[in-house]
Amino acid sequence: MTDARFADWMRDVQQRTEVALGRTLPPNNVVPDRLHEAMRYACLEGGKRIRPLLAHAAGAVTGAPPEVLDKVACAVELIHAYSLVHDDMPCMDDDTLRRGKPTVHVEYDEATALLVGDALQSLAFQQLAEPGLIPDAGRHIEMVHHLAIAAGSRGMAGGQAIDLQSVGQMLTREALEVMHVHKTGALIRAAVCLGAQAGGHCHGDVLRSLDHFSRRVGLLFQVVDDILDTESDTATLGKTAGKDAENDKPTYVTILGLDEARRLSLELEAEALELLSSLDGRADRMRELTRYIVHRRF
Ligand code: IPE
Ligand code: IPE
Ligand code: MG
Ligand code: MG
Ligand code: MG
Repeated sequence: MTDARFADWMRDVQQRTEVALGRTLPPNNVVPDRLHEAMRYACLEGGKRIRPLLAHAAGAVTGAPPEVLDKVACAVELIHAYSLVHDDMPCMDDDTLRRGKPTVHVEYDEATALLVGDALQSLAFQQLAEPGLIPDAGRHIEMVHHLAIAAGSRGMAGGQAIDLQSVGQMLTREALEVMHVHKTGALIRAAVCLGAQAGGHCHGDVLRSLDHFSRRVGLLFQVVDDILDTESDTATLGKTAGKDAENDKPTYVTILGLDEARRLSLELEAEALELLSSLDGRADRMRELTRYIVHRRF
């Protein structure tokens, strides 16, 4: 399904993200060592790195330097990793497996998991707000502002609140979309927009196309996550399959049924690809990434 050059590019971005995260996260032996060890445990050696891939693919469209994209990618991935640590805690989804390993509160303890999330969020902003990261200081502030909104109560954290409130409910399709667009879509959108803004060729129409695209892909990503939760198995996913049903969560599968959810994912894929049609070959990585997001197995 994916061509060899795309697979090489993916591996390259995943590897450079691992290196960048490894350098950014304080070493295990720095005080408080248990917290730093748990932060590294939560972030390193695992995950598909979809948000870093999206940031690098968007940056390729606008000519962003890869070293700057590494910082942007790390910032978004750190917020994502924090959201997973908290998502898995007993007060939320109560999961014991993540990325094929025991979740942070199981491997360490709940208080440590809470603090890991706090510290990762702070480190994300430390990365993104690094003085002089991009030459245009005004745009740099806009990027920090965007990530703050994406992570907060009008973005990811808000979506998580809606998710928890919705347990046991039969949501309308519109309400479900609102939940997904916030809990997952906001950060995916940030990955694309920040990656694009890191480049010098980030003009109105390009940014608008990428922004519209990122909103579709953000929703698409969570629709596929819902499908995989019912369709796949724990070993493949690296997290407990069937957890949404166990937790009585409304998902695209419970609201639409599996076939219709699959059909919707293909429709969103087509819409997302169409939104890239005005962009030239520099958006090819983004096109391939979109297909990967839909057809992935985990
Ligand atoms: C899982 O995200 C949580 C959602 C927002 C749906 P990913 O599927 O990107 O998780 P990792 O980073 O690859 O583990
Ligand atoms: C998680 O959604 C979204 C965030 C972490 C913000 P899910 O609860 O569906 O993610 P998984 O399935 O546990 O990875
Ligand atoms: Mg959840
Ligand atoms: Mg969960
Ligand atoms: Mg899920």
